[in-house]
Amino acid sequence: MENELKILEEEFLKDCQQACGAKDAEGLRVKYLGRKAQINQFFSKIPTLEPTQRGAYGRELNILKQKMSAIIEKKLNERQNLEESLDLTYPGIKPQRGSRHVLTTVTETICDIFQKQGFIVAQGGEIEDEWHNFTALNFPTDHPSRDAFDTFYLNLDQDKKNGRYLLRCHTSPSQIRVMCQNKPPMAVISPGRVYRPDEVDATHSFMFHQVEGFAISENINFAHLKGVLLDFAKGFFAKDARLRFRPHFFPFTEPSAEVDVSCFMCNGKKKETKCSVCKDKGWIEVLGCGMIHPNVLDTCNIDSQKYQGFAFGLGVERMAMLKYGITDIRLFYENDLRFLEQFNQL
Ligand code: PHE
Repeated sequence: MENELKILEEEFLKDCQQACGAKDAEGLRVKYLGRKAQINQFFSKIPTLEPTQRGAYGRELNILKQKMSAIIEKKLNERQNLEESLDLTYPGIKPQRGSRHVLTTVTETICDIFQKQGFIVAQGGEIEDEWHNFTALNFPTDHPSRDAFDTFYLNLDQDKKNGRYLLRCHTSPSQIRVMCQNKPPMAVISPGRVYRPDEVDATHSFMFHQVEGFAISENINFAHLKGVLLDFAKGFFAKDARLRFRPHFFPFTEPSAEVDVSCFMCNGKKKETKCSVCKDKGWIEVLGCGMIHPNVLDTCNIDSQKYQGFAFGLGVERMAMLKYGITDIRLFYENDLRFLEQFNQL
């Protein structure tokens, strides 16, 4: 009989360990002290015992019952206290929601437009060497961009074949990497970071983002380039956007051009107040482009007699600044949520 009380007590203590919460405590009370509790059966057994045993057994039972009710009582109280200090109607703490950076979304918007035209995306690396960043792109050995004032060189042993390592100053080396590894036809865009040791001010940063694009095939001409860029301008700026091509020079394209888009703010129509976007010029410079120089194709083992290609490069920060009227490039990098959160819904 002693034994059955021990078993009951052990079972009770085990249940207690697992019990948590008000519901469980109430469950314990029903199971061990309720009407159908085992202990009641033990109590009702008392009259059937030898009279000499009744007193001792009854006492044991009472001790166990008191012990169990003390523990259950305590558990019930614990919950009650906790629930009183815990205001369950109090509004929860809303976790801060992260979102993508405006430069990421603008890069994606730009890439989307070109991907719809059939371009595929290829990522280049931010660490390049002189050969991919300059030489293969037809930069002469004495070109000023190669100067340490204009390019970040890395303090690494130089590659025997490809020269010094550097942080790429444009995304054009991606062209070289793709061209050397693939055969035409190809149409590729390559977004990414570029680095130039420029003094930081409202329109310059030592690091910024570009999207490079190029296509190579037989019979590609300047008209294809114009069509691709016009479609981009209409998709990115405004449906009625127009483009203006101004002759320019890049070592890796010939002929080369700088491209202006018609001002999406004033569309070239003068108003009483000066247009804040184009300063009444009616045009905004947006990118550089041209037909890929035959030297570049040949360097990458693409027969320039057979194949032609066009290439273009645009600045992502500049696109974002124009589109959203942002006047200081530094805002992109300062991680001020008051600025960044304005673009959460893009
Ligand atoms: N790489 C040039 C720059 O950074 C842009 C460009 C790319 C121009 C491709 C022509 C063709 O200024």
